[in-house]
Amino acid sequence: MKRFAYLGFILFLMGCSQPIPETEEYPVPHHGFSPLPIPDNNPMYASKIALGERLFFDPLLSVDSSISCGTCHLPEKAFTDGLPKSVGVKNRVGKRNVPTLFNVAYHPYFFVEGGNPRLETQMLGPLETHEEMAFSLPELIHRLQADDTYPELFKEVFPDRDIDPYTITASIAAYQRTLLSGNSRFDDFYYFGDSSALTAEELRGWQIFSASCTGCHKGPLLTHFDFENIGLYEVYPDLARMRITRDSADEGKVKTPSLRNVALTAPYMHDGSLATLRDVVEHYNVGGKNHPNKSPLIQPLNLSDADKNALEAFLKTLTGK
Ligand code: HEC
Ligand code: HEC
Repeated sequence: MKRFAYLGFILFLMGCSQPIPETEEYPVPHHGFSPLPIPDNNPMYASKIALGERLFFDPLLSVDSSISCGTCHLPEKAFTDGLPKSVGVKNRVGKRNVPTLFNVAYHPYFFVEGGNPRLETQMLGPLETHEEMAFSLPELIHRLQADDTYPELFKEVFPDRDIDPYTITASIAAYQRTLLSGNSRFDDFYYFGDSSALTAEELRGWQIFSASCTGCHKGPLLTHFDFENIGLYEVYPDLARMRITRDSADEGKVKTPSLRNVALTAPYMHDGSLATLRDVVEHYNVGGKNHPNKSPLIQPLNLSDADKNALEAFLKTLTGK
């Protein structure tokens, strides 16, 4: 959190229109993270990030002005909402669990089935989905143009442009790229070599994790970002990746999530069907359910209760400080 404050201060000093240089010095959480990937057509600067933040938390983005992006992605819950499935306008329940937005700057694609390649276009999903904001970009542009403050704010950030699809989506994406989280006790142990950062139980959990889980949950974000079927169901109610590829070999395959801050993002899985970390550990312990597409990496673990506790304790060390 100290580093966020530091970032905020730097942004403040840099003033409005100075782009943040894309260098090794960009204050990303720790040395396991590569420099922040910033697209050439959407440079980061303080006033744009501030506008994006304001839009992110503004209910004007939903059809009846009742909910914002931040209603479902709550900062205090690592940008999730604590519910099994999302709740949008008019209390419409969605199909999926709200994922964390920490470190989305590093994701190669978005959504469970990987159907959207760019953070800039991703927001059109929630904006237009009936169970989420049920609105549209043209209607949003009209509403912002008619607002008392937005026309002036947009002019300050984008002097040569109007309130348009580019300026709206670029601002919200730039803000989301600042949502970074690392610096967990796991990082002290793994990246900074502090062997006293984890307790004996957590170290035992790490042993189990590195033997059974890092085939998929690896690298700085603890995901390889591939699509995997982990045997959550024998019959998947949601085709997931197959919706995009139309290939039955992809049925039930979903984007592997990051496990950073996983202790803060219950309930779990793409449909919120597992309530607690213990339920997740039990799922993996029995090797999931049978499905023809289940990854061969998912095998029964036959853990003792002490080992289950250790694995759960390890997962809790992934919370950013
Ligand atoms: C009604 C609740 C709700 C609202 C409002 C909402 N989201 Fe989401 N968000 C979700 C859910 C649920 C998913 C997962 C959907 C999926 O993968 O199919 C998601 C996924 C995402 C992702 C992809 C994360 C990943 O790991 O792939 C991003 C980025 C995101 N939302 C940003 C936003 C932004 C920006 C807004 C506002 C314009 C917004 N969300 C509004 C519920 C919501
Ligand atoms: C074959 C790849 C693979 C392996 C191996 C694997 N996982 Fe996963 N993990 C996934 C995928 C894919 C999901 C998302 C499943 C879903 O949403 O339905 C997931 C989800 C999770 C979640 C829930 C995250 C969330 O935010 O909902 C946790 C916790 C987790 N895994 C921990 C583990 C642990 C602990 C192990 C080792 C015992 C492990 N995983 C092994 C691929 C894997």
